[in-house]
Amino acid sequence: MTLNISMKLQIRNINKKFNNNGHSIEALDNINMEISYGEFVCLVGPSGCGKSTLLNIIAGLSTPSQGRIIKQGQPGFMFQEPTLFPWLKVKDNVAFGLKNLHQEKTAIKEKVDHYLKMVHLSGFENAYPHELSGGMKQRTALARTLILDPPILLMDEPFAALDAQTREIMYTELQEIWRITKKTIVFVTHNVREAVCLGDRVLVFTARPGRIKKEFFINLPRPRDLGNLEVIKISNAIHEELKEEVEKFRQEMETHEKN
Ligand SMILES: Nc1ncnc2c1ncn2[C@@H]1O[C@H](COP(=O)(O)OP(=O)(O)OP(=O)(O)O)[C@@H](O)[C@H]1O
Ligand SMILES: [Mg+2]
Repeated sequence: MTLNISMKLQIRNINKKFNNNGHSIEALDNINMEISYGEFVCLVGPSGCGKSTLLNIIAGLSTPSQGRIIKQGQPGFMFQEPTLFPWLKVKDNVAFGLKNLHQEKTAIKEKVDHYLKMVHLSGFENAYPHELSGGMKQRTALARTLILDPPILLMDEPFAALDAQTREIMYTELQEIWRITKKTIVFVTHNVREAVCLGDRVLVFTARPGRIKKEFFINLPRPRDLGNLEVIKISNAIHEELKEEVEKFRQEMETHEKN
């Protein structure tokens, strides 16, 4: 998909209230963001501050109570759990969305091969999900999302369930895939160092109702790795901002338990 580089993903005055058994819960409070196409933005914030809710709203899976999203094309979504079809081989999981679009067989095979190569899964076309490691499952899920060539990729803690070594490999690979495909990525994580390692920008959310508390621009050369001293320094500064909000969340949980 070709996009005008000056166009932006715009998130305007988004507010979201949920109704929980007659109680109104405010999940998001007046969220505003402008994300350039090709930009990699990471969102960090305490549990329950509305990060997943915001991604769902951007994807169009949930409607905001107020505000609007201005975007080009349908975003691709990647979740914490790979959500693959267990009865389909890797290649058929990856091809799934294309088959729905009724594309020609040889064209599908070519694309599947291309994206499996991109996520370093060539040779596993005929494996079933239960035969894959956690990292391989997430690679399959990534290929399945990329094959539809969405301009925007929404990633909700996609590496949270992986072990530390696999995660580090995924950081390197995702940075490379992002460089090649030039996707706009909105990436949610609890891991601040992961956010600094990957993002052009890191946005810190407040405890619920989620608001943007602070924005950090990460002007470090790529590829970056977790052990980089600059990455660690910026991560520490972000941690300071986040600590206060996580503490608010903890206190709220305690108050709940007492009542
Ligand atoms: N479908 C829903 N119905 C009612 N309340 C909801 C719904 N989805 C989310 N919420 C509430 O909205 C708030 C934000 O939830 P959300 O899942 O977006 O948080 P999050 O920042 O992604 O948290 P985590 O880091 O734990 O994944 C929470 O209080 C949650 O209980
Ligand atoms: Mg979430």
